[in-house]
Amino acid sequence: KQRIYRIPEEQSPGTVVANITAKDPDDEDSPSRLFYSIQSSDTYFSINPSTGVLQVSGRIDRDVLPLQLHPNVSMIIRVEDSPRVGHSSEMEITVIIGDINDNPPECNPSTFRKEINENTTAGIVLLDLRNSCRDIDVDPPNNLFSFTGLSGFGSNNFALESAESGRLVMTESIDLENPSNPGVEVYSLTVRVQDIASPNYSNTIYIYIRIKPVNEFFPVFSSPSYEFYVPEITKVGSSIGKVTASDADWPPSVITYSIIAGGGTKDYTNAFWISPINGDVKILERLDYETTQKHFFTVQASDQEKTATASVTVNVLEVNDEEPICSPNFYSFQIPVSLAVGTNVNGFRIQCQDRDSDPRSFRYFIGGNVNNHFTFSPVAGSNTSQLILASPFDYENGLDTKWIYRLRVYITDDNLLSVKNKATHLVKTGTVTLSIRVIPNPTTVTTTTPGFTVVTKKENLYLDSAWYVPFVTTLGSLLLLGLLGHLLARWLCARCLSAPQADSTPLINAPEKKKPKKEVALEMIKLNTVFDGEARDP
Ligand SMILES: *[C@@H]1O[C@H](CO)[C@@H](O)[C@H](O)[C@H]1NC(C)=O
Ligand SMILES: *[C@@H]1O[C@H](CO)[C@@H](O)[C@H](O)[C@H]1NC(C)=O
Repeated sequence: KQRIYRIPEEQSPGTVVANITAKDPDDEDSPSRLFYSIQSSDTYFSINPSTGVLQVSGRIDRDVLPLQLHPNVSMIIRVEDSPRVGHSSEMEITVIIGDINDNPPECNPSTFRKEINENTTAGIVLLDLRNSCRDIDVDPPNNLFSFTGLSGFGSNNFALESAESGRLVMTESIDLENPSNPGVEVYSLTVRVQDIASPNYSNTIYIYIRIKPVNEFFPVFSSPSYEFYVPEITKVGSSIGKVTASDADWPPSVITYSIIAGGGTKDYTNAFWISPINGDVKILERLDYETTQKHFFTVQASDQEKTATASVTVNVLEVNDEEPICSPNFYSFQIPVSLAVGTNVNGFRIQCQDRDSDPRSFRYFIGGNVNNHFTFSPVAGSNTSQLILASPFDYENGLDTKWIYRLRVYITDDNLLSVKNKATHLVKTGTVTLSIRVIPNPTTVTTTTPGFTVVTKKENLYLDSAWYVPFVTTLGSLLLLGLLGHLLARWLCARCLSAPQADSTPLINAPEKKKPKKEVALEMIKLNTVFDGEARDP
């Protein structure tokens, strides 16, 4: 009346499960005609109506519902001796479906990605693979699996804690700066997840581990301090030097440069500029040696997190960029034609100064110096020199024809201070203009100090309106004539008396006495060189 059978799952259709047999006492001696059927509706099995052979008719999967939970399939088998009005009997058959190992372990996800910082301490558990894997086979050991076969690039840095646990452990701290594996950031591993039971189905798990770089190192300047040498004539915008910093971190850090202190001058808060990208230092204004010989500033290199500083000294190099400045720079005077050779002309003395040259570095040249009448003494080696008449004027023989000399005096500095630096050796020139007029009559001219001299010749003449003048003159003349007549008479008389000595003084006195009607006076007025355009007769 009741039977239990056991079959494994996944038997192919047609597999015989049971031979159901029945006996009919009516047919003791002859083979009976009995009919078998399954009463409950079931898709797993079928029964041969005439033979009673119970066979598998559909797929029986123990690993899915409902068999997963209820592996016993019960059915009522009915047997009849006649299709229409016969007798029948029933029995209950239970088929217990057994589990077989027909599924591999499955992991979801089957690909893992994990990021860890470089230099993470060895021994930490990175992944627990078991949590995401299972085997749908229902009964052990079919549903048991293990993790093996860790392989792939970098697998020596990692290990599975045990085959059962499926925990991936880092065995070695990874340093991206380590020369043995520089910059290796991604490790790709595979692990096999495999059934313990035969036939040992397996699957593959893919694991990608990325080592995140950690900014461990500070940037380091190639030198703790830099010295640049810049000639003072260097153009604004020129590059004057370069600082570099490096950083041991992997990946190579992008370093940015900046000036964080100093670098200002009196007129500019930032006289220097540094390229953030390559550390190139440029000047934003002209550097003047005569003002400041050294500039200091501090540069910083930053890898966005860590910084380093270095000091920069800019030494301004002296270049002869200053020209001699001399005084007076214009001078006009007159000299007598008879001036003796060797005389300091008009007492003229030039005085020069130069902000970047030695007082001994001056040289004096004269342009427009026709017949080389003039020279400076000394011609070189002093910041002061006298104008000397070098050769006499000779207009009478036609050697000289020029009465006005316009001398251009060129004063050069020999640049003794920067002569050591040949590349920047320059000569700067200053000029002074002299205007010299040679006066044929030397008597009227004497000047000793700068400025020009107006020589005024004043003739004192009588006015027409001065009526008393001709009166007095006439009277005087008459008296004089009278005196002359008297003297003549006495002289004749003395001659008659044969006097040997005669006084000739009156003869000399006579023309002198005729002159007073005209009186000449010379007056010299010294004026400043600034002439206001107005002249007055004092
Ligand atoms: C079922 O029974 C028949 C006759 O009794 C026999 O020939 C056959 O081999 C049996 N099959 C099984 C599977 O036992
Ligand atoms: C000329 O040089 C001397 C030193 O040699 C200096 O004392 C003097 O001040 C200088 N004169 C001028 C005008 O610069």
